[in-house]
Amino acid sequence: MVSEVKKTIEINPVSRIEGHGKVTIHLDEAGNVADAKFNITQFRGFEKFCEGRVFWEMPVITSRICGICPVSHHLTAAKACDDILGVELTRPAKLLRELLHMGQVIQSHALHFFYLASPDLLLGMDADPAKRNVIGLIAENPDLVVKGVKLRSFGQTIIQRLGGKKVHPNCAVPGGMNTALSKADRDQFLKQIGPAIANAQAAIGIIKEYYEKDSNFVCTCASFPTGYLGLVDESNNLELYNGKLRLIDQNGKVLEDQFNPSNYLDIISEYVEDWSYLKFPFYRKMGYPKGTYRVGPLARLNVSQGISTPLANAELKNFKKLGTNGIVEGSLYYHYARLIELLYAIERTQQLLKDKDICSTDLIVTSNTYNEQGVGVIEAPRGTLFHHYWVDDTGKIQKANLIVATGNNNAAMNKAVYEVAKTQIRNNKITEGILNRIEVAIRCYDPCLSCSTHALGQMPMVVQLVSATGAVIDESRTD
Ligand code: MG
Ligand code: NI
Repeated sequence: MVSEVKKTIEINPVSRIEGHGKVTIHLDEAGNVADAKFNITQFRGFEKFCEGRVFWEMPVITSRICGICPVSHHLTAAKACDDILGVELTRPAKLLRELLHMGQVIQSHALHFFYLASPDLLLGMDADPAKRNVIGLIAENPDLVVKGVKLRSFGQTIIQRLGGKKVHPNCAVPGGMNTALSKADRDQFLKQIGPAIANAQAAIGIIKEYYEKDSNFVCTCASFPTGYLGLVDESNNLELYNGKLRLIDQNGKVLEDQFNPSNYLDIISEYVEDWSYLKFPFYRKMGYPKGTYRVGPLARLNVSQGISTPLANAELKNFKKLGTNGIVEGSLYYHYARLIELLYAIERTQQLLKDKDICSTDLIVTSNTYNEQGVGVIEAPRGTLFHHYWVDDTGKIQKANLIVATGNNNAAMNKAVYEVAKTQIRNNKITEGILNRIEVAIRCYDPCLSCSTHALGQMPMVVQLVSATGAVIDESRTD
């Protein structure tokens, strides 16, 4: 009798992403990849914790979801609360919130490129894993690391001055902002714009050079068709804070145009897979998995027709040339897209700082009535983030629905893992280089697992080869 031998290779956890996850590669009898899953096994249940709390606490409560992107939750919660109050913010409050958001985008995108992604790109994917990290990068290219540190610190200082703290801010409140920007801080930030732009452009130079050097891998690595979702302004330009939703299909055909984010439930549903605690959002009208879409830098540039700042817009034109009809599919192009957004965020910061209203203290509007529900949407560094609260007439949260950026990219990340595993793994053989290429594909999406799950901290990597009966037939550890 021939028994079915279905083997499973596990990579647990994936290193150098925020939080942690597990990769399981299912092999068929011939040792070829049959299926691959990016498995998120922890559960956080933040939506449940929020029930019974008063809504105006939400900007502070939800900023605790994550130590990596607290500003995104803080601002999205504040927007949902504005919606419950039914108020339109003052112009200075809007500008100041956007400035805070730009600080977050700058620090997050800089962290990702300089600390997490560039070791693979610059030291090589087959480099010694002990050296292929930011410490190895300091030895190899200290100037580059310094550029990253400076950019990150620029973003963090903006957050700190406006938010009161470096990590969990408390400045955005329902109806506006509780802190004004001082003229001294404004002037100090303005002085840093020039060097920040130069550092972002240096990073763009590095990524372009890498693409040229390794073009075969870059073009083919985790390249697959999906839809794309992101906020745009009224001219369909890139928008990270305000704007309406735009959803396009794999060929660039517009599926939803200038869609009111408050009605997101009309276009987005979430599919539940029994093996993952993280849901799989999809475009309702197409169903799952056909309606899978991507969010984040690559998706945002794919849905945008332009960028409202000159330097980033010039780069966008180069980016669009990489794809067919301006639609870029390869996961590794997330890095380029992220750096173009970094450049945009710096230019946008300059525009905001130069605005005549940026230091105004007219920052709060109030209301005595509550709507039954409120929706806040923002383009977090990792992608579209939704907060939706339902409240009773005393303002207590009855129900909360959060769709985080990493959730929006869940199906796409699984697809990316499968695509890489399929082309790289043969005959039960799994090398460090292959493992890292899978990690590299996931890392393109900059998944924030602490947002999606309950992160327990870094664990050593375990690779397991498991038969269908559950027997471990091979195992290796990196510790
Ligand atoms: Mg949810
Ligand atoms: Ni997060």
